Amino acid sequence: MVRFLVLALLSLAGVTQTSASPTQASEPPNPTEEQPPLGTGSLSFPWSHLRLPGYIVPLHYHLLLHPNLTMLSYSGTVRIELQVQNNTNWVVLHSKGLRITTATMLDQNLAHLSDKVLPVLHNPTHEQTAIFSPRVLSGGQKYFLFLEFGAELGEGFYGFYRSTYRTSSGETRNLASTHFEPTSARMAFPCFDEPSFKANYSISIRRSRAHTALSNMPVEQTVVLDDGLMEDRFAVSVRMSSYLVAFIVCDFRSVSATTASGVKVSVYAAPEKWQQTHYALKAAVKLLEFYEKYFNIKYPLPKQDLVAIPDFQAGAMENWGLITFRETSLLFDPATSSGSDRVWVTMVIAHELAHQWFGNLVTMQWWNDIWLNEGFARYMEYISVNATYPKLRVEDYLVDTCFAAIGRDSLNSSRPISSAAESPTQIEEMFDTVSYDKGACVLHMLRHYLTDQVFQSGIVRYLRRYSYSNAHNQDLWDSLANTCSEEEEFSSGEHCYSSRQAAKNAYLYAGEHLDLTSMMNTWTLQTGVPLVTVTRQGSHLLLKQERFLRTAHPSDPTWPSLQQGFLWHIPLTYRTDTSTSIHRHPMTTLTDSVEVGEEVGWVKVNVDMAGYYLVHYDGSGWDDLIQLLKDNHTALTFMDRTHLIHNAFQLTTAGRLSLDKALDLIGYLRSESHTVPLLEGLGYLEAFYRIVERRDIPDVTQNLRKYILWYFRDVIDRQTWSDKGSVSERRLRSELLSLACHLGDLPCLKQAQRSFTHWLDSNSTLNLPADMAETVYSVGAQEDTGWASLLQTYTHSLSETHKRKILSALASSRDTNKLTRLLELGLEGEVIRTQDLDSLIAMVARNPKGHHLAWSYVQKYWSTLVDKFQLGSFSIRNIIIGTTAQFSSTEELTEVRVFFESIHEQASQLRVTEVAMDNIQKNILWLQRNLGTLRSWLDQQID
Ligand code: BES
Ligand code: ZN
Repeated sequence: MVRFLVLALLSLAGVTQTSASPTQASEPPNPTEEQPPLGTGSLSFPWSHLRLPGYIVPLHYHLLLHPNLTMLSYSGTVRIELQVQNNTNWVVLHSKGLRITTATMLDQNLAHLSDKVLPVLHNPTHEQTAIFSPRVLSGGQKYFLFLEFGAELGEGFYGFYRSTYRTSSGETRNLASTHFEPTSARMAFPCFDEPSFKANYSISIRRSRAHTALSNMPVEQTVVLDDGLMEDRFAVSVRMSSYLVAFIVCDFRSVSATTASGVKVSVYAAPEKWQQTHYALKAAVKLLEFYEKYFNIKYPLPKQDLVAIPDFQAGAMENWGLITFRETSLLFDPATSSGSDRVWVTMVIAHELAHQWFGNLVTMQWWNDIWLNEGFARYMEYISVNATYPKLRVEDYLVDTCFAAIGRDSLNSSRPISSAAESPTQIEEMFDTVSYDKGACVLHMLRHYLTDQVFQSGIVRYLRRYSYSNAHNQDLWDSLANTCSEEEEFSSGEHCYSSRQAAKNAYLYAGEHLDLTSMMNTWTLQTGVPLVTVTRQGSHLLLKQERFLRTAHPSDPTWPSLQQGFLWHIPLTYRTDTSTSIHRHPMTTLTDSVEVGEEVGWVKVNVDMAGYYLVHYDGSGWDDLIQLLKDNHTALTFMDRTHLIHNAFQLTTAGRLSLDKALDLIGYLRSESHTVPLLEGLGYLEAFYRIVERRDIPDVTQNLRKYILWYFRDVIDRQTWSDKGSVSERRLRSELLSLACHLGDLPCLKQAQRSFTHWLDSNSTLNLPADMAETVYSVGAQEDTGWASLLQTYTHSLSETHKRKILSALASSRDTNKLTRLLELGLEGEVIRTQDLDSLIAMVARNPKGHHLAWSYVQKYWSTLVDKFQLGSFSIRNIIIGTTAQFSSTEELTEVRVFFESIHEQASQLRVTEVAMDNIQKNILWLQRNLGTLRSWLDQQID
């Protein structure tokens, strides 16, 4: 429809639609003084590149929008002030799916350049529009481009789209909201949609009296129009990238508070969810105040809104001054939200607020360096929440972030943190665990290396230098290593360290010339994670580094080529039994050695896992550590114990360490009282259980089940079915009991059954302990009546976190008809919202009874799913990984490959398909390498 209208319009203007391969032009197209013979269709699209030309720069947008929430469409006008750098007849900018009905060009005095409407050409493959000005636009001059446009409100999750919610009286209400990052601002209004085109925005929105309009800035003036409509005119924004623009028209309620520095913070939600906004408000105020202090840069806007959008694909989005969230990421319901829900909400708010500096104030130059936004925001979650909510103990979760990064980075299909990305699909796919988690872990390593203080002052310097502008990796390294000029030092006072001082701190152990760029390039421009193998030789430790790969082995013929050229600058650290201090040794060569002394008993390398590398202990190294954990595990910190467990099992996957060694290593866990190492060890056993259960290997499945329940009996029995205790106690309880019930532990099942019956008897009104609810529901969902009551409650519940727990329980049913029903409901999008479909598919796939069902469903509805979610999106990747990660046979690998071949055109644009196949390969190898050992080890234990 849109396409048809555009075509119709173009033929009116006497211009034909261009082909998919426009003319080649890297320079501004030659200006023509003469008006071309319009009406002959002689104009062709003037620009052939995916990125816009740089010779016209937007300075200021005046944007007026008028959405109609009944017709589900909107109209708008935009007047863009342009700075022209070279003479040209063309303005090329982005637009996607918009009907542009009028285009005119004005000079600086707002006089029209032409009395005719200007020809508008489209190149839909590049999502670009070109406007032809018969009069040359002169270099060095400013102009105004004026466009009128319209479109339907989007049905998906991008651009200016519709969302709905139902009131408790059953009425469905509409709202309109935006999501632009990375490349969807162009779906809402014509714009220069690249992060380096920063401009000011003056936005106005027309709405009915019953609605509220929100945008990045506060309303400056509201005008009543002749037709009774209201027009809200928002204050002019700061200079910012198009992907950060946002506007919402809704009838939500809000709560507000003011920070110490006078920023008004408000949290908005659907009227009946208003009670769930209080926690977020408190957290947002606290965190915003923290960041202003930590960065020593004031938040530049007068207000910050946080809005819970009922239909939202991502977790949250940091639009400047108007952060949007999925309801589960913002709303906290004291009655149904669990301990981990509280951690999640706090972390998401901390993440999006960190972006107000990292991302909004200073933006990466291009999407290849999106980690400068996302890696920092992820790492700042830990720094800020650790400081503001120490009781949440979020540092316990940092290991999971690093382990997730290593999981991806130890497969051949990984990529460098900074990687080329040009098309919207490629750009979308950059928002992955490499940008987020590896980015954060590498920053964590760097902070340890430089010390907290040098790190902090370095990033503050970076933020100051590049405020309202864009940066590359190199700019970060320069700011951190600091080489700041005298006047900067003068102007930014305490926050500019002299190079000598920065160096002095870093030299604490670097001991030689600090070359931060060379060091950090090995972490951000190179794929993969290193493995350091240490061998004791007399008083020395011999060190050797290589790329760690879970799917390759040194005996493979391809090994040398896989290792070719890899070298990291590793800020190595270790601890020994002879002193309490941390020893440091920068390792910049493939092999190296350090003197530790003859008298040393044990050595633990990579202290507290602050470095992004794995460690293998050759010779008797592992045995020494196994013994140490048995005799006196508290000689090591809980982080070190966790790290050892992780490393040992990773090495078994790679075929580098025998599985029984790793299993012996966790033989001390009965005396472990810390949640993090306990869950790390248990997590591996659970993962093995899931593989053998799914592959239907009954003897190993049974024995493993028996072993886990026997070995962890005491700690399971110690758990109470409540929400009491510290955050880590609660986390342990909820994960432990969930596993126990999953393994069919009778006492667990009985207790869950009892609680479920109480819940049913209360007519589903009883609030179960929130930490236990999911487990109780999952047990209850195994019976027909239980399942039906849960679905009923799901349909009417006003708490999204509650609903998420119920959905997970519904998807754990062993009845495939019920699973099929759920997947159908997910496709319909009424009872189960489309935004939850990707997690639903992943939940069904995790269920051994639903695994093949989910995979067939994905194949059958592939194009529908891509239409709903966009290729490259987090949801599509979640669907692919979620449904294939459990496969572990060559037949399954072939089946997946055949499917990817059948969708070649899409699959070839995605990295995630490679990741999925690597994952399956890894599972196949795991079974080949470890199943036999696991079986005999279990036989011995059970005996
Ligand atoms: N900037 C992202 C939102 C985003 C994600 C835009 C993917 C485009 C593609 C936002 O800051 C973010 O990272 N959101 C996370 C949640 C957050 C707590 C990590 C998300 O949506 O998963
Ligand atoms: Zn983010």
